[in-house]
Amino acid sequence: MITRNVLITGGGGQLAWDLMNSMCPFPLELTELPLEQLDITKETDVERAFATYQPHLIINTAAYTAVDKAEEEKALAFKVNRDGAGLLAKLCKQHRLPLLHLSTDYVFDGEKKFAYLENDPVNPISVYGQSKWGGEEVVRKQLHEHIILRVSGIFGVHGHNFVKTIIKLAGQRDSLDIVHDQTTCPTPAADIADALLQIANNILCSNQIINWGTYHYCSSPSVTWHDFAAVIIEEAANYQTLTVKTLNAITAKQLNLLAKRPGYSVLNCDKIFNEFGIARPNWKIGLTRVIRELFCEKLPI
Ligand SMILES: NC(=O)c1ccc[n+]([C@@H]2O[C@H](COP(=O)([O-])OP(=O)(O)OC[C@H]3O[C@@H](n4cnc5c(N)ncnc54)[C@H](OP(=O)(O)O)[C@@H]3O)[C@@H](O)[C@H]2O)c1
Repeated sequence: MITRNVLITGGGGQLAWDLMNSMCPFPLELTELPLEQLDITKETDVERAFATYQPHLIINTAAYTAVDKAEEEKALAFKVNRDGAGLLAKLCKQHRLPLLHLSTDYVFDGEKKFAYLENDPVNPISVYGQSKWGGEEVVRKQLHEHIILRVSGIFGVHGHNFVKTIIKLAGQRDSLDIVHDQTTCPTPAADIADALLQIANNILCSNQIINWGTYHYCSSPSVTWHDFAAVIIEEAANYQTLTVKTLNAITAKQLNLLAKRPGYSVLNCDKIFNEFGIARPNWKIGLTRVIRELFCEKLPI
């Protein structure tokens, strides 16, 4: 069987880590490059990486992901999330490479009361969301052979995420204030990695005619951040004595973060199932796996 080369940008990031650690069942040779070796805003870096690794497909996990800081670093967020994505797409077109590009539920305002479809109107309410939407638009414009995968609430054993923050704080404080008026679909990085690799395999190693474009992928069931925190604490308590006694439900307004977040942030995932047979995983299974791994492998939290 012929092996195909897949180049992953944003190496060392949360999702890239799970891509590299997945038990990839497909004939794909994965290479990740961190920012220091491949800055997606630098044409010379991208050209050098393409020449060195001779990829057949690119997965772009590189992004500026500091949602609150982006409110104060707008230029940098747009440079990476819009212009970097555009540069990659332009060079992918020149080299005839398909691009799997990651985007976010934060392109929506969260005012809808039921799950967002891929072609619902966007209305990002944060700089981060606006910059990611900018990235989507340039990728669509520059390159026909693209898949934009919008995901939400990524958590894994590596990198910064809500799960690790809650475990850490639950071991330090006796009460926590968690937002209860925002609903999300937390999604294990490992499941997103599996979905990406399956799409890559379908593109490179199957006879499937690919329906290029935008797809949604997230776990079920939807949950408020407050209720998600309660499940995290319950699970983590199986491994460690926690100090937290009370979980206070507060509003996003009370928390008063720099960036606004969507109120109802649920993605409809029918299209990816119909097109690629990729089903929504249940985040509780992924959560159990991640927390077990964090404690049993004594990984940094
Ligand atoms: N995390 C979430 O909950 C979430 C939700 C929805 C969508 N997404 C999207 O999913 C994708 C993966 O997210 P993630 O959680 O894996 O993010 P992450 O952990 O922040 O990883 C992103 C990586 O990109 C690197 N990077 C930053 N600027 C770069 C540049 N100019 N060139 C190359 N690399 C650069 C970062 O390096 P430094 O750390 O050194 O800056 C980091 O290693 C992103 O597109 C993100 O927007 C994430």
